[in-house]
This record gives sequence, structure tokens and C-alpha cells, in this order.
Amino acid sequence: LSEQSLQGKTVVITAGPTREAIDPVRYISNHSSGKMGFALASAAKGLGATVKIISGPVNLTTPSGCERFDVSSALDMHQRSLELGATCDIFIACAAVADYRVAEVASHKIKKTDNNDALQINLLKNPDIVADVAKLTPKPFVLGFAAETQDLEHYARDKMQRKGLDMIAANDVSIPGQGFNSSDNALQVYWPNGQSVLSLNDKQRLAQQLMDLVVQQIDK
Ligand code: PMT
Repeated sequence: LSEQSLQGKTVVITAGPTREAIDPVRYISNHSSGKMGFALASAAKGLGATVKIISGPVNLTTPSGCERFDVSSALDMHQRSLELGATCDIFIACAAVADYRVAEVASHKIKKTDNNDALQINLLKNPDIVADVAKLTPKPFVLGFAAETQDLEHYARDKMQRKGLDMIAANDVSIPGQGFNSSDNALQVYWPNGQSVLSLNDKQRLAQQLMDLVVQQIDK
């Protein structure tokens, strides 16, 4: 593939975790580092695309030539994604979005009490960002991820269908040394009538291989 494969195309990528506030000093989050999403941004840039990263809180440098939009909560990421997704050609959902947010965020720090050992926090389901982007018209080519611990193909294909995706990259996040927060990963990629296995590699190389598959599907 050449440096011009995605010339004139805009690619929007969500990356990293989201943070769901509990009170002014606490939040619910996950172990996503943003490495996979940022590697995809750099691979897409290398193919000539205009790249916009919608990033949760991460400790990474923005790949050169990419535009970055920082967000914190799933609701923030949802809003930015619908805004930028409306004018992109390819939307990649690599972020580990919290499925639930705290129903009522306390406006002051929650105090520890002496008379009760248990504390309940009610959660509310967050909107599904990638599914809502896939409902836009015109609809971009939408690549989602699936973080699974078993039956990768079954769960990934189910997510692809339910969320209206064109392609899904599944990773087994139960295997140490790959997936969340590591430098390496392995992906099983599915689209409606095909699949490809991208074996264990560093996330930069893997991102290039995944972008190649995206280009092949778009060219069809
Ligand atoms: O960031 P790293 O440390 O490099 O790790 C990479 C990764 C493991 C986070 C990445 O490879 C990955 O698997 N990302 C997706 C994680 C995830 O939340 O998967 P899921 O199976 O729960 O979600 C399925 C898809 O729906 C994903 O594309 C997700 O972005 C999207 N989603 C989920 C919930 C939600 N409310 N909105 C969404 O858009």
C-alpha cells in the first residue's frame, strides 16, 4: 500500500479509556492506555489520511500531523464522535468506553461513615458511541473493536451485527502481555464475508496491518 492509499479521506479514531466521575475526586475507569488507538492514527496518517483522534485521558504524545480532541467521560466522547463522525470517511472505535456511568455524581467528596460498612453507587447505561455513529447518514466505514475473554468470533460477529459495523477487530484480553496497556497485541478481524488473523506483534505494526485490511475493504 502506498502513502496515498487514504489521500483525501478523513479518519476519526477514538482511543483510550473514559472516566466516569463518582464525586469531585473519584472516578470509574479501566486499563486502556490509548496505545492501540494512537498506533492506528499514526498508521492512517502514513497512508495519507487526515486523522482526528478523540482521546480519553492517556499519557501519550499525539502522532505528528494528527489532530487531537481530548475528552473525559463517555458522554463527552459520544458528543465529539457524533460531531466528527458526521464528516469522516472512516470511523474507528478503539476506545474502551465505560458501559455505565454514575447515576448521580456527588457534588462534594463522599464521606466515610462510621455506622455503615456498605456504600451503594447506582449506575446508568451510557450511549453506545460506535453504534450511534453507524446510524449516521451518510454513514462512514465503521471499524469497531471487541475486547473478549472467550469465544472471540461468536461475540465479535454478534457485536458487529448489533452495532451496525463494517468490520470488527477482536482481541483476547485475558492473555497476559497483550491487549490493555501492553506494547503488543494480537487481533482476529472479521467483516461480513471474511476474516483475517493478525498474530502477536507490536501495536505499531499491527495497526499498519489492520489499516491495510480497511483499505482493501473500502476499495471493494
Ligand atoms: O488502549 P490500549 O492499552 O492500547 O488497549 C487496547 C484495547 C484493548 C483497549 C483495544 O484493543 C480494544 O479492545 N478496544 C475496545 C475496548 C472495548 O471497550 O471493547 P468492547 O467489546 O467493550 O466494546 C465494543 C466496541 O464498542 C468497541 O469498539 C468500543 O469502542 C465500542 N463502544 C463500547 C461501549 C460504548 N458505550 N460505546 C462504544 O462505542
